[in-house]
Amino acid sequence: MTPLKKLFPLFLCFLLAWSCVPAAKKKDRDIEKKITGLVSKMTLEEKIGQMTLVSCSNIPEDEQFSEALRKGHIGSVINEVDPARVNSFQKIAVEESRLGIPLIVGRDVIHGFKTIFPIPLGLAATFNPSLVEQGARAAAMEATSAGVRWTFSPMLDISRDPRWGRISEGFGEDTYLASVMGVAMIRGYQGTDPGDPTSLAACVKHFVGYGAAEGGRDYNSTFLPERVLRNVYLPPFLAGIQAGAMTLMTSFNDNDGVPMTGNRFLVRDLLRDEWNYNGFVVSDWASVNEMIPHGFAADQAHAARLALEAGVDMDMMSFAYITQLEKLIKEGAVSEKLVDEAVRNILRVKFLLGLFDNPYVQEDLHKEMFYNPHHMELSRQSAVQSAVLLCNDGTLPLDEQKIRSVLVTGPMADAPYDQLGTWVFDALEQTTATPLKAIREHYGHQMRVIYEPGLKYSRDKDRSGIRKAVASARAADVVIAFVGEESILSGEAHCLASLDLQGAQDELIEALQSTGKPVITVVMAGRPLTIEKEISASNALLYSFHPGTMGGVALADLIFGKEVPSGRLPVTFPKTTGQIPLYYNHNRTGRPFLGNETMLDQIPLKAGQTSLGNTSFYLDAGAAPLFPFGFGLSYTTFAYTNIRIDQVSYTQKDTLTLSFDLTNTGKAAATEVAQLYVCDKTGSVTRPVKELKRFERIALEPGETRSVSWELPISELAFWNLQMKRVVESGQFELWVAGDSDSGEPVLFEVNN
Ligand code: GLC
Repeated sequence: MTPLKKLFPLFLCFLLAWSCVPAAKKKDRDIEKKITGLVSKMTLEEKIGQMTLVSCSNIPEDEQFSEALRKGHIGSVINEVDPARVNSFQKIAVEESRLGIPLIVGRDVIHGFKTIFPIPLGLAATFNPSLVEQGARAAAMEATSAGVRWTFSPMLDISRDPRWGRISEGFGEDTYLASVMGVAMIRGYQGTDPGDPTSLAACVKHFVGYGAAEGGRDYNSTFLPERVLRNVYLPPFLAGIQAGAMTLMTSFNDNDGVPMTGNRFLVRDLLRDEWNYNGFVVSDWASVNEMIPHGFAADQAHAARLALEAGVDMDMMSFAYITQLEKLIKEGAVSEKLVDEAVRNILRVKFLLGLFDNPYVQEDLHKEMFYNPHHMELSRQSAVQSAVLLCNDGTLPLDEQKIRSVLVTGPMADAPYDQLGTWVFDALEQTTATPLKAIREHYGHQMRVIYEPGLKYSRDKDRSGIRKAVASARAADVVIAFVGEESILSGEAHCLASLDLQGAQDELIEALQSTGKPVITVVMAGRPLTIEKEISASNALLYSFHPGTMGGVALADLIFGKEVPSGRLPVTFPKTTGQIPLYYNHNRTGRPFLGNETMLDQIPLKAGQTSLGNTSFYLDAGAAPLFPFGFGLSYTTFAYTNIRIDQVSYTQKDTLTLSFDLTNTGKAAATEVAQLYVCDKTGSVTRPVKELKRFERIALEPGETRSVSWELPISELAFWNLQMKRVVESGQFELWVAGDSDSGEPVLFEVNN
């Protein structure tokens, strides 16, 4: 038999084996081959160009810019959203440069592009990942129709400090909720096929710990030990990467003295080597250069070296790579191998997005995409489900058949720009449905709608309008006061030392209350505010985290009962700013607050030093929040009964089955957000008093009972322990299933490994 014939069976085996390789693996192999081929042709200058991101809103789009594109000195542009201009830049990069490598075009599409959804903190309050995914898909359809293929979202920063303006952009204080919502957004943005022209590359940010900025002051230092990073702040990023997030952004903060943009341990050792991340890493805006004011880099050359060695592939707006790397490589201070790795990561995303085959955007596509009815309805649903009813004496829902006149008042009643919230660049404020517009349009035929704002904007201290508002209140059956924050008061760099309502808003509410008319207060804000006074002055209070384009319609529908509140707090509401940081999943301490401590006004004169209760609390504010994580009222009530688990003892390989009955014990059809919390009572390190492990929105008719069964793999109770190993330790556990983090009775079980 000739040698060829001998090889034939082998060849057949190879073919058979190759045919079993999933198509995706083949595609990955093809891409890697293309990348290798392309990198081998690139000059050092062209490689460094791919690592350079330029913002079109900060540099002139002039001949020098075109020349830089032609020379391949720019690999990505952000902040250009005119499809024709995007195509013009792409044409230079693809048809006039030596290698024709396409640009990736980015934008901050944080909670919508044209159709704006509630801010991410509000989206978290929906506890509805499916709806959040649909909203992100709508945003991707709109943004990609403008030529944008990369968004700097989702923000996965855990935040326990509402003084921090950027708490608005994340999913709140809970690791599990942030992980679930981040994955939902990534799926929505990227879709099922990254090569589809409507796929928008996600960017999980800000890696990592940025939300723990000291004092809630943005850009400030964080001091998070590795175990806290691994148990609280890193898991949402791991979930996002495992969900396929194509890019990641390093954060501005220095953690334990090391700026994240130069943090080799967290970016190269953990993200790359431990997590095998193969997307690309972009620095946050100018954060490469900022290692100089941090006092971590002596100059820009040092900063460029530190960032590259740490594993940052792309430099956003420092121009450090494009000005320093070539020289650093030529003098042997930095290995070109690191540059090749960075370029590979960037080219991989561009190939995955299909930009080499399909670099241009269809320029008229956006006309059918922007503000389309489906997107607007998703925005309305999201705003409905993100609103949290915090108190209600039965005044809500209003019966439109019985109301003859309503006063709509407050600086947020007709604030189309501010209602959209922070990080909105591309929406037109005239498309915003404000509460005033919505109430007039949908309910004005039934009743007289009086409008008297009382204050012009949230910080307004001019009290002269309050008198007119009070006079109008006296003429109305009911008052609906829309207060809160202008959008500029939250978001990046917009931190507050006090969370009380700004301006004369609390005086407006008190004056309205003094009329004796029912007062419904609606707060539109970018963060939790300290609203204890407003709660006591209102018959009902609905909290709406800047609800977006359709927020007014959503709030009107909730107030008049066409919709029923189902939002739950994704973050703890403190009584006073002085209690911060205050969050539900805290450690228990050796002296936990008992609730029987002597509070300030009860302290007897000459009280003995140890007579007040030596526990962890404030004499003037106790230790409890105003409202706990997971809290929210409905127009009905719910009962949890027959709560049981299938065993009392498990190994870490087991799955716990929890069953319970949920009954709608009221008169309105409504949705409950059932929540499962677990406490690991004793650990090799102290453990949180409880942690969210499951939640589910369950819709029930009045009187209806649903038997619910959840499975919880015991492996999901793992944590990073004293030995810095991720394990489930044996011992006693408790679980609660309830409507918020502060309710329910514990069910005991144990883990015996
Ligand atoms: C900003 C933000 C970041 C944003 C980036 C691009 O400074 O920190 O979240 O995505 O710059 O606009």
